[in-house]
Amino acid sequence: MSNILRRGRLEAAPDEEILRYTSSMEADRWIFYADIAVDLAHTVMLKEQGIIRGEDCSKILSGLLKVREEGMEKLDFSYEDIHISLESRLIDMVGEEVGGRMHSGRSRNDEVATCIRLALRDELLGLLEELFTLRKTFLALAEKHTKTLMPGFTHLQHAQPTTLAHHLSAHESALSRDFDRVLDAFSRVNLCPLGAAAFASTGFSLNRKRTQELLGFAGMLENSMDAVSSRDFLIECASVFANLMINLSRMAEELVVWSSSEFNFIELDDTYASTSSIMPQKKNPDTAELMRGKTGVATGALMSLLTICKGLPLSYNRDLQEATPNIWRSAETVRASVRVMEGMARTMKVHPDVLAAQSVTGFTTATELADTFVRETGIPFRTAHQLVGVLARDSEKPTLEKIDSIAEVVLGESLSDRGLTEKMVREALNPVSNIERRKVPGGPAPEEMQRYLGKRQADLELNEQEIATLKDSIDSAFENLLSVVEEYRKD
Ligand code: ARG
Repeated sequence: MSNILRRGRLEAAPDEEILRYTSSMEADRWIFYADIAVDLAHTVMLKEQGIIRGEDCSKILSGLLKVREEGMEKLDFSYEDIHISLESRLIDMVGEEVGGRMHSGRSRNDEVATCIRLALRDELLGLLEELFTLRKTFLALAEKHTKTLMPGFTHLQHAQPTTLAHHLSAHESALSRDFDRVLDAFSRVNLCPLGAAAFASTGFSLNRKRTQELLGFAGMLENSMDAVSSRDFLIECASVFANLMINLSRMAEELVVWSSSEFNFIELDDTYASTSSIMPQKKNPDTAELMRGKTGVATGALMSLLTICKGLPLSYNRDLQEATPNIWRSAETVRASVRVMEGMARTMKVHPDVLAAQSVTGFTTATELADTFVRETGIPFRTAHQLVGVLARDSEKPTLEKIDSIAEVVLGESLSDRGLTEKMVREALNPVSNIERRKVPGGPAPEEMQRYLGKRQADLELNEQEIATLKDSIDSAFENLLSVVEEYRKD
């Protein structure tokens, strides 16, 4: 059969190169099932509104289910997009007298916008589940390591002792904000543009609310011009993905550094490592390096989307076709990265002895020593800061005697005279008592960490319920759509 789209207005067929240049068929693999769902819902609604006859509806629905069963590969890839290729396949099956009625009151503009939102909705739900699992793993690891000492860093210099639980749960906190952002973006993706037609809606008496509900959308993009022309939801999601990916890349960077001989804090499982083709001894953290590198895919997708959408006049412009693949590329990369990070973190071997030994390297207890001077002798913090700073010039372990001799010079009196004892100094220099003292909310003291982790766990459980609720409403809408389809096929 001749091309159902080009046989009217146009005479010349595009040559191979122009077709390759203009076609979205390859990227449309992402929306194959969504497109069938949109066709089913639209057809059901057309019949209910009396726009098409029951017997035509029945044949179209059966045809669509058959196309779905045959799969994407059976479609003609010489069409410029999936919508027209799918319609053409349907017309091949049921004839134009019937199949030619499906596109009544519809344009590919509202159709594609609906398909993208449907498919993206699934990606977001999948991502929420994966983020949930990753956060759970981080929290479980943190639970195990509330007493595992490690050095905390600022400027990548040893700064103060902390615990591995504190460090890992910091990453989990960032991930929970990513989770919230995905959830928030979901609420703006989960809106239905269908019924907007080309942009000016239609004179057919469509029931937009009905298709919205059949497709399980929480609401409608009402203004029909906005419905077909807006892609801000793609920019928003790409930005959420980029932010998440940047958080993951920071974790990946730490895994690379921590597994080096210099740090030796952890060893990655062999699954995530590669070796050298020339240096047989090497165990390289390639998976973590690639995660750092793949961040470019997510930030690049965001840049592409911003650039493609900039300056586009209302309403639909074909430029928008170039926007869509960016979101799929980004979603695929980010979701895989979340899964891989989960496995990497879960299977890594922690070296607690190295971490504990390193927790005091570089006089990390200096802050606590200065704080002890303030608390026990009543001198101002700034003065204590100076005293300990002078002490730190010397690489030897500070003693009360040494402290007093510096205090004599700086203050004109010894700190022992103001009540400082050897025991107080010893305690301040001990990383365990150091950490135990840091029990303000969010601090690394093991008892405070336990409280904090309990709260994170409770939040995570709430998030799990939120995912289930969203999934349920989408699944039940889809089940309902299929049962209505089954019923109308009998007509
Ligand atoms: N493949 C197109 C896209 O992704 C579908 C919409 C085509 N609409 C049109 N008026 N040519 O945007």
